[in-house]
Amino acid sequence: MSDKIKPTEGIMCFEMNQIGVIRTPYTENAPYQPVEEDEGDFRIVIEPQYTDGLYKLDSFRYIYVIYYIHHVKKEQSMTVSPPWADGVKVGVFASRSPVRPNHIGISIVRIKSIINNEILTSGLDAFDGTPVLDIKPYIKDLDVKSDANYGWIEEMEGQEHLLLHIKSIPHDY
Ligand SMILES: C[S@@+](CC[C@H](N)C(=O)[O-])C[C@H]1O[C@@H](n2cnc3c(N)ncnc32)[C@H](O)[C@@H]1O
Repeated sequence: MSDKIKPTEGIMCFEMNQIGVIRTPYTENAPYQPVEEDEGDFRIVIEPQYTDGLYKLDSFRYIYVIYYIHHVKKEQSMTVSPPWADGVKVGVFASRSPVRPNHIGISIVRIKSIINNEILTSGLDAFDGTPVLDIKPYIKDLDVKSDANYGWIEEMEGQEHLLLHIKSIPHDY
């Protein structure tokens, strides 16, 4: 390790409780990111002891779903090449790859309705049975950055076409 790279002291190890489970039609293949118009049954089932935590969540239109990407089979690496990136390698933290040190996934979805302990949502990009770690409201202005960019994707050829792949938007070219 180079002298300039300093390790942090006292790395902590955490235990987390699953608060619910994601239900989707996907068992082996899922979109790379949530597709809002995706058809099918998408829901988050919350464990009974956390149900009171859903109070007033239905006043929001969108939520962040934070989950544990539990069926990762690929070996961990600090660089990844997203499937749509034509071999371009980037650091795992500059990517949305599911193969990352803590296997944490985050998806923004629309709330369709909340019935008892179930949140019915627009399309999710997680496999059926994915454990949920947290839910947070997506809040206007707080969570929208009008000057956000596409990062290293802007350096790639055919950016518009790539974005269709990234957003899992069907296209025939
Ligand atoms: C590119 S990741 C993006 C996840 C999340 N939207 C994010 O940005 O953190 C989505 C992919 O993860 C994979 N995936 C989804 N749920 C998974 C699970 N429970 N275990 C392993 N892989 C999963 C699927 O291949 C899906 O296409």
